[in-house]
Amino acid sequence: MKLIDFGVREDEKKYIQEWSKTNNIEVKIVTDLLTPETVKMAQGYDGIVAYQQLPYDEKIFDTMNEFGIHVLSLRNVGVDNVPFEALKRNDIRLTNVPSYSPEAIAEYSVAGLMALLRNFKHMIRKVDQHDFRWAPDIGRELNQLTVGVAGTGRIGRAAIKIYQGFGAKVIAYDKFHNPEIEKQGLYVDDLDTLLKESDVVTLHIPSLGKGHTVINKDTIAEMKDNAIVVNSARGDLINTEELYDAVANGKLYGAVLDVYENEVGVFNTDLSDQEFSDKLLERVIKSNRIILTPHIAFYTTKAVKNMATVSLNSMVSELENGSSENEINLDK
Ligand code: COI
Repeated sequence: MKLIDFGVREDEKKYIQEWSKTNNIEVKIVTDLLTPETVKMAQGYDGIVAYQQLPYDEKIFDTMNEFGIHVLSLRNVGVDNVPFEALKRNDIRLTNVPSYSPEAIAEYSVAGLMALLRNFKHMIRKVDQHDFRWAPDIGRELNQLTVGVAGTGRIGRAAIKIYQGFGAKVIAYDKFHNPEIEKQGLYVDDLDTLLKESDVVTLHIPSLGKGHTVINKDTIAEMKDNAIVVNSARGDLINTEELYDAVANGKLYGAVLDVYENEVGVFNTDLSDQEFSDKLLERVIKSNRIILTPHIAFYTTKAVKNMATVSLNSMVSELENGSSENEINLDK
């Protein structure tokens, strides 16, 4: 068996190399992303592993089919950039890594919220300027707040545990009820109720597709004054312009954003010596009440190792047994 792994970052290499040695399976490491051009390198290999934020071009899958490659294994969880129809047409199975570390994302969300509640961004900016005054950055305490968790999958549930540990009141919403969360009586009936009753709304749901936002001017109007939004899920869940306005005009206290609707091509790129064209993002960065990070919630040693190795294990299972526990249902 010979595998090829695309879009590999420096920090992933050692885990892939270790896996290759332990399992005695050749894995060619490619730093380029998977495109209609680079997929040509896969000729002669049995399976392709990849991670990228850019959409996967349909032509990639025609070429895979030509080469007799019928499994694509992703090193991440989100499959929103994969054209399912092209996979089906070419008889290609897809796997992801659904649970590389729910705790990584959950801990990030809580850390971001705590930083905002204690006004770290403004305080650090002041201290950098040798302004050591306290006011106006008086903090708020998590144990006094109601946290509304939207989405009670693995990440949402990990976040609930941490919030409860801090003494916050937790309420939750999900279309699909988890028995544990149900038993604790945390579910409210609908998203509107969650928005209305929460001091903090934290999003742990997948993308609903372009244009289908959960946080926008209409839903913000429903929210409590001074509420906070935390998003470490997908950028397109929020209308960022409308969120920014609500923070700027004082309706919302602030936000923690690890994802952004126009992040592709920007996040995880050094643009420090370039003209910056995204004026909205510029305003967000300047705001003392919006903490913005470049999609790093997942970025821990545990998660990166799991992404590298679980994707390869799924590939082996697909090639040896024709299926794996992480295979995506392309008809959903
Ligand atoms: C995913 O796993 O889909 C993520 O959002 C994290 C990614 C940046 C590796």
